[in-house]
Amino acid sequence: MSGRVRLGAVGAGWWATSNHFPIFAAREDVDLVGVCGIGPELEAVREQFGFGMATTDYDELLDQDLDAVVISTPHDLHHPQAVAAIDRGLHVLVEKPVTLHADQGWDLADRVRERGVHFLAPYGWNYKPFIVEAKRLVAAGHLGEIQHVLCHMASPTRGLFAGDTNHIRSLWDSKTSGPEPSTWQSPARGGGYAHGQVTHSSALLFWLSELRASSVMAKVSTGGAAVDLFDAAVITFDGGALGSLSGAATLPDGNPYQVDIRIFGTEGVLLLDTERERVSLHRYDGTRWDLDIEPGAGAYECIVPPNRFIDLIAGASTENNSDAVVAARSVELIDAMLRSAADGGVETTVHGETSVNQKEKTA
Ligand SMILES: NC(=O)c1ccc[n+]([C@@H]2O[C@H](COP(=O)([O-])OP(=O)(O)OC[C@H]3O[C@@H](n4cnc5c(N)ncnc54)[C@H](O)[C@@H]3O)[C@@H](O)[C@H]2O)c1
Repeated sequence: MSGRVRLGAVGAGWWATSNHFPIFAAREDVDLVGVCGIGPELEAVREQFGFGMATTDYDELLDQDLDAVVISTPHDLHHPQAVAAIDRGLHVLVEKPVTLHADQGWDLADRVRERGVHFLAPYGWNYKPFIVEAKRLVAAGHLGEIQHVLCHMASPTRGLFAGDTNHIRSLWDSKTSGPEPSTWQSPARGGGYAHGQVTHSSALLFWLSELRASSVMAKVSTGGAAVDLFDAAVITFDGGALGSLSGAATLPDGNPYQVDIRIFGTEGVLLLDTERERVSLHRYDGTRWDLDIEPGAGAYECIVPPNRFIDLIAGASTENNSDAVVAARSVELIDAMLRSAADGGVETTVHGETSVNQKEKTA
């Protein structure tokens, strides 16, 4: 498209105001048409970033002349809000987890495909240069057929999920608000570590490996919180690969986030670690790649994804590392993990019916 991208935003809380809005406001090619939220800070947010209007009514926002919508609301609102935007032919950036249930995730993927709009879930690690390089190595086929994976994540997020949510403002601050406890700590609204953080490590695994989970046995524990702080699962993937997943919300503040993914194939092994910045791919034929990575380069940031969303719309990039299919594969795994855990850890099917989108992808 030519001209500026006319953007609307729904959700004007901590994350939108500390990460997304400053990025969009700094771009010459973005017109901040309107913002929708329900908090008392809405007018202050409108003024800070220069949105053309503010409303508490999402339909009124969608009635503006828009190209795209950014959705940064609590988890349980993402699906209906994304559907309403996509059905109007708007491009959408949908925060993680893009939905809470598998059928909703695939519903979004199908609608995105049918309407031909851009959909990006802002998973920051999928855009780190050393991780993009890891993806290139895997996509070149150096692992052979994947037989086993390990997917671990741990975060300094005890406060976010089980205490004073404002503690996270020391990492990403907002002039107007900290995260609402109801967004992160409510079981009914998709709070907890699985939907809040394992969504990142699993989306990275699915993008890197192109695997899809077929069944899972999981247990979670709360450490006394209202939501899961610890997650453990054994996963079987389509094609028979076996995997283990772990998640822990309670690293001490100041510790780097841990995302540790190991993929074992018939021809080689990939080791990827964001905490100590390692990407190694070693093949049985003796070929080895050990990437040179700057210390600190693994720290979490989410600068590229909102920029990439605009670049995709503007035609300046075609690389989407976190599209609707990657996001839906993550949602369906976490949905099944939590159902398995609620049933005492029984083996639970991840996907039954195959969506149109998925059939095309696997054809
Ligand atoms: N990609 C990342 O790295 C990353 C990082 C942090 C948060 N997030 C995600 O961002 C999203 C928002 O998190 P947050 O911490 O900013 O939450 P928050 O509680 O601070 O903000 C939620 C916002 O949604 C608005 N809202 C609530 N109900 C609404 C409704 N019915 N209509 C319109 N607006 C409504 C609130 O007014 C508020 O502005 C979550 O999905 C979270 O997982 C993503």
